[in-house]
Amino acid sequence: MTRLHRRTFLVGGLASAGVALAGSGAAQAIAYPFTLGVASGEPAADGFVIWTRLAPSPLNADGLGGMSSAPVDVEWQVATDRNFTQLAQTGTATAVSGLAHSVHVELVGLQPGREYFYRFRASGHISATGRARTAPAVGTSPALTMLFTSCSHYEAGYFTAYRRMAEENPDLVLHLGDYIYEGGAGSGVRAHQPSGEITTLANYRVRHALYKRDVDLQAAHAIAPWVVVWDDHEVENNYANLVRADNSPAGGDFAARRAAAYKAYYEHMPLRAAQAPSGSNLQLYRRLRWGSLATFHMLDTRQYRDDQACGDGTKLCPVADDPARTITGATQEAWLLDGLGQRLGTWDLIGQQVFFAQKLAAADGSKSMDSWDGYTANRSRIQQGWQARGTVNPVVLTGDVHRHWAANIMDDYQTQNRVIGTELVSTSITSGGDGSATETGTSSLNPHVKFYKNQRGYVRTVTSPTQLRVDFRVLDKVTVRDYPVKTAQSYVIEAGNPGLQAP
Ligand SMILES: [Fe+2]
Repeated sequence: MTRLHRRTFLVGGLASAGVALAGSGAAQAIAYPFTLGVASGEPAADGFVIWTRLAPSPLNADGLGGMSSAPVDVEWQVATDRNFTQLAQTGTATAVSGLAHSVHVELVGLQPGREYFYRFRASGHISATGRARTAPAVGTSPALTMLFTSCSHYEAGYFTAYRRMAEENPDLVLHLGDYIYEGGAGSGVRAHQPSGEITTLANYRVRHALYKRDVDLQAAHAIAPWVVVWDDHEVENNYANLVRADNSPAGGDFAARRAAAYKAYYEHMPLRAAQAPSGSNLQLYRRLRWGSLATFHMLDTRQYRDDQACGDGTKLCPVADDPARTITGATQEAWLLDGLGQRLGTWDLIGQQVFFAQKLAAADGSKSMDSWDGYTANRSRIQQGWQARGTVNPVVLTGDVHRHWAANIMDDYQTQNRVIGTELVSTSITSGGDGSATETGTSSLNPHVKFYKNQRGYVRTVTSPTQLRVDFRVLDKVTVRDYPVKTAQSYVIEAGNPGLQAP
């Protein structure tokens, strides 16, 4: 932090800082603790969450970030200007070792539909400044620029795509899972720490800290509020509820491992207290309103799902169509359909993890058991449910597969009779490496699937009451730093007319 910023903070309304610092944390002199940056999330019309974590030595093997067990006061400021001359709110939170000295401040009482800036101070150190935004008021529908992505494997490449996302100056960012990867150090362009597969709270914390130290990721968090959901790698590859996918490393109590992973995820994300973990459970599915323009239904397709039918992988597996099978769990399915039926905004945006539309891998009907194709009755109930409820503009937003895809969601995939929604699938930030600009992926087996691109990047959407424009953004390389971003393909979805149109 520059001297100017420090002075501004002191002059800008913390005249009582001496009093505030006389609290429980005053005795602990700590080195610069904001090594993991700042973040905001969960925007509502009257506030959002601001996050940081104190970690002067973020990669210490004990997962405590170089902090003692003492609680530390963390002052925060929210202003309407980048220089913090117009303070909107200030306060002090207490960072405790039980939450790895993370801070989640849930702001309320802010103005709808406007930009804010925030920062933290602890033990005389001042954090970077973050920019956030409240959602617009219900009854209004200003245009929304939203980016979404998934699958950021630290070893597979540099996080340039996160940097490019920050440069887009979005209103909102969604991360749809695989924010970290759990494996040990491999042979990528940079190495995981800890070096082994992570299974304990201490090493899930170190892994999250390794990722959060990345300056490109910090830039993306600092530019806009994020809404996050996990996929599998935040815990373990292709796990299903409490069923492990593999036995490497062997043994162990998977419920305890999931509890450690969920806790570390909460500690490192700008989530509300409603998402605090309870043992090996964490309520991650939730709804957010963006005025009367859009409603985000954020799903969790990992925590409650039945185990993959016929094992993982791509299979011909009639069991996948068993009506009793679920990827959402019955409670989340009912919650989603109830929310879609409320028709709260023009657009219903369903943020989730795995490929939703049918995608046959072979003429014999083989398909991916980890995706909704492994849980087809659950998908049918949701598709039929939104049609029955008059949901006009459903758009499913997906991650997981390390490719860009775009698809029309069909009432009946066999007959291709009617388009009833749209699916936009983001590629990865890095997972899969540089990819191939020329690789083809669409197939006559899946006429409703229109676009495929095996390069890294993210998806940009600009949404208004009349249309949702989508640009599939790609970088030619992520194994080399600082490549530019470009648009590989664009579509428009017209309100009231589901499906992909030429822009
Ligand atoms: Fe992934």
